[in-house]
Amino acid sequence: MILRRRATIERLDQYLAEKDYTSALQAITAEVKRKPENFNLLLRQAEILGMAGNRTQAVAVYRDLARFFARQGFYARALAVISKLERLDPDQQEATRELADMITAQQESERRSQERLRQATASAGIEHPKEPAPAVQTAGQSERERSASRLFAEFPAEALEELLASTSVRSFGGGDTVCREGEPGESMFLLVEGAVEVVTSDASGEPLVLAVLSTGDFFGEVALVTGRPRTATVRSQGTSVTLEITRQQVEAMAARHPGVRETLERFCRERAHATVEAMVNRMRGLRA
Ligand code: CMP
Repeated sequence: MILRRRATIERLDQYLAEKDYTSALQAITAEVKRKPENFNLLLRQAEILGMAGNRTQAVAVYRDLARFFARQGFYARALAVISKLERLDPDQQEATRELADMITAQQESERRSQERLRQATASAGIEHPKEPAPAVQTAGQSERERSASRLFAEFPAEALEELLASTSVRSFGGGDTVCREGEPGESMFLLVEGAVEVVTSDASGEPLVLAVLSTGDFFGEVALVTGRPRTATVRSQGTSVTLEITRQQVEAMAARHPGVRETLERFCRERAHATVEAMVNRMRGLRA
């Protein structure tokens, strides 16, 4: 009798290279059981289910993940999952609709709880906070992600659906340039997978990395808001996937939902400050 060796997560890449999807699925499913809270593993599991031709299960995992992210306020991440799902099965537009509805329902409930908070604090004579508190309090990347996601939280369900249906998904390889400093910019990007680095040149022409952006972040908004050329070069670090939103789409959204423009302008200001700070620090470093 031939005994099959138990598939292990360490050999996952090898199984995939050999197109041995049975072992790959065994390995990833065991790992998901061990670490059910690791959402990257669930994403990987859905991808492998898709590769193995098990679309129904892959779609189910993607939909659960999208719901989970949306419930936590990670709208961009939820959109990323939905865009994967739509690539796997273009007939799944209802998932987009469901997500759009979920986001709107959540906006509504956030608005209501803000209103309750406002009333309660007003009657107690306390000033209420300006920014709505996120559903779950976390720091760093999560907070940045939610903040970027707020751009999408500005859209009502139909607008969101419209946007999702018309944005184009673009993939980049490691080192690829997504946009180049000094060139005109006609679109902005939402990073749905991977990471990019934002680079400019310092006073002596040496490269200066301004930021590394990851899933949920957006970039390319400065050229759209100011009408000026790109302020930095954005390069893919490893494989990355973006949703590209054209100037026309952004303008149409902003005309209908003023919050969109405010969010974009705030990001522009913050990034301009960060760039000046990075330049000054570099100059100080050179002088020291
Ligand atoms: P844009 O100027 O259109 O193209 C380059 C993009 O890089 C820019 O929009 C911002 O989205 C982004 N960017 C520029 N400077 C910074 C910074 N200091 N930190 C993060 N992102 C930046």
